[in-house]
Parts: sequence; structure tokens; C-alpha cells
Amino acid sequence: MSVRRSLLVGCGSYLPERVLSNAELAEKVDTSHEWIVQRTGIHQRHVAAEGELTSDLAINASNKALAAAGIAARDVDLIVVATTTPDDTFPATATKVQAGLGVTNGAAFDVQAVCAGFVYALAVADNFIKAGQCDTALVIGAETFTRILDWEDRTTCVLFGDGAGAVVLKAHEGSGGVDDHGILSTHLHSDGRERDILYVDGGPSSTGTTGHVRMEGKEVFKHAVSKLGGVIEEALEANGLNAADVDWLVPHQANRRIIDAMAKRMKLSSDKVVCCIERHANTSAASVPLALTEAVGDGRVKSGDLVLFEAIGGGLAWGAGLVRMGYPPSA
Ligand code: UT7
Repeated sequence: MSVRRSLLVGCGSYLPERVLSNAELAEKVDTSHEWIVQRTGIHQRHVAAEGELTSDLAINASNKALAAAGIAARDVDLIVVATTTPDDTFPATATKVQAGLGVTNGAAFDVQAVCAGFVYALAVADNFIKAGQCDTALVIGAETFTRILDWEDRTTCVLFGDGAGAVVLKAHEGSGGVDDHGILSTHLHSDGRERDILYVDGGPSSTGTTGHVRMEGKEVFKHAVSKLGGVIEEALEANGLNAADVDWLVPHQANRRIIDAMAKRMKLSSDKVVCCIERHANTSAASVPLALTEAVGDGRVKSGDLVLFEAIGGGLAWGAGLVRMGYPPSA
């Protein structure tokens, strides 16, 4: 019996030109390069130029992902943009991306799950494909996160950056086994009781302003380690796999110490973990597809490799996904 699956057939990313170093930040707030590197692993972040919008970053990343997949924009019939920093309160940034790419088929909408946004968007698009509601999806994580930072708050402003990453999913009939290509499973969770440890103090309905990021870092850190560990185990168990079966861990890039804790828990050596936090910082919904694109681009992640994604952020919302990359040899 054949099973309808979503193949992940291409990815692309985009980073704004401007790089902001830790040393430059230390001139604005009471921090140091040493503190930031020791506590987070971050050395620098990219910052969008004035007038450069989340949709611009997303369109750039999408064009590269479509080119890598060898798929024309006219064949896309679903666009899901994960973002916390949309161009406008409405319409969805995804519709702007749709127009920018020249896509006229199907639907385009945003998903809001903050730093877990890419994993959420991947799950949504995968389920649309499995249900037969679309055939070719663009899943994008894009953020101009630096626009919602309080640049006087050293506990948050040193942590984040801007960027975008995109992947192309394509429907395929396969055997449905774990050796088969495509998304094996996705696993999503949220717990709204933890809202107050990571949030933005503004919004269209509450204050009529955009607001700034507020975070109790230590609390979020503890939740991240336990919840990500749990959802990784859940994803492996659901597929009857062990951590040793995973070729690559592509984690959310929030803190080097959290990434190392996950690798240790999975007993994965560091050369099986994709880490780019030192150059990108935390780009929220963009962080996982940015890391994936880097590792595909430099030849580490290859077609047929089993990749585990995980991410956590405000909500709290978190999740994981297991994907065997690329087109199957028969396709
Ligand atoms: O993507 C969404 C998910 N987000 C995360 O996963 C983030 C999770 N949290 C973290 O990554 C870490 O908690 C942080 C990197 C945010 C903070 O690291 P920490 O080791 O938990 O530090 P802390 O908050 O306990 O602060 C330690 C000290 C404090 O000083 P005192 O109270 O010990 O005197 C802070 O005031 O470091 C101070 N501090 C800073 N010092 C220099 C906080 N921020 C800074 C800073 N530079 N930027």
C-alpha cells in the first residue's frame, strides 16, 4: 500500500547584509563579548536594513529554495510563513510573499508560534499535503526580530537577530516506512500557563502598540532543556527509532548550552549537530531552516539523511520533526 508523504526537496536562506558584533552591542548596553559568548555562544547577528521587511527576507529565501528544488513558483499551491514579526498586523505576510514570488494558486497564510514557528509551519504544510489539499508547499521562517527588541535591555537585546529560511515540500507516494524519504512525523506542544516567562508587552488588541520582548531567561532555559528533550524522545519513539539512527540534529539556535545539552542527551557527537548560533544568534522562526540550508549548502546534510528538527519559544510552544531529506532515488 502506498502512503502520501511530503518530500523536503529544497531549501534556501537569506541574511541581511548588516552584521552587528557583540563588541558593538557592548558600546550600547552593559555587556561584554566574553559574557555573551560564554552564556550563549553568540558572536554576532544580522540586522535588517531600514525599509527591509520580513517579506523581503522571506521572498529572497524562497527564491533560493525553489531554485534548489528545481521547482517553478507557478507550481506552488500552499505558502505558510512562520513569523512573529509580520510586515503589518494584517494581511498575512505570506500573501505578500505569494505576490512577490508570482504565485497565484492555492492559499497563503501565517503561523504564529514564535521560535517554534518553523516546526509548526512544517507540521501544518505536511498535514495539508497528506490530506491531499495541496501538492507543493513553501514553508518559510522569516523574522525581523530585532525590530521588537528593547535595545536598553541587556538580558534580551544581545540574543536575537534577523533572517529567513525556506523549504519546499512536494507530495509523493511512498511505502510509508522509516527508510522512505520525506517527513516521517511532526510533534507539536504548547502550554499557555507559561505565557509570562517569554512574551511581548504589546499587541493590537491589548495596547495598540507592537511592544518589546520580555523574558525570564533562566526559567525559559529550564523549560527548553526538559521539553525539547521530551519531544525528541517522542519523535524517535513514534517512529521506532533510536538517537543513533539520526544523521543530523538541526536544533533551534537559542543558546549553545541548550544545543549541547540536547546532543549530550541523544549521545550525538558534536559533528552530527548543526550549529550556527555564533554567526546568526537566535532568529526565532528562521533559525532551523537557516541552519538546515547552511548544512545542505556545505555538503554536510545529503539526500537520504535522517534529520531531526526541534524548537521551543514563547507560548510556550515547542515541537520536533523527523525528515528523510531529498527525493527518493526512484523519483
Ligand atoms: O528562542 C526562545 C527560547 N529562548 C531561550 O531558550 C533562551 C533561554 N535562556 C537563556 O539562553 C539564558 O537564560 C540567557 C542567555 C538568557 C541568560 O543566561 P543565564 O546563564 O541564565 O544568566 P542569568 O539570566 O541567570 O544572568 C546571570 C547574570 C545576572 O547577573 P547577577 O544577577 O548574577 O548579578 C544578569 O543580570 O548575568 C547578568 N546578565 C548579563 N551580564 C552581561 C544578563 N544579561 C547580561 C548581559 N551581559 N547581556
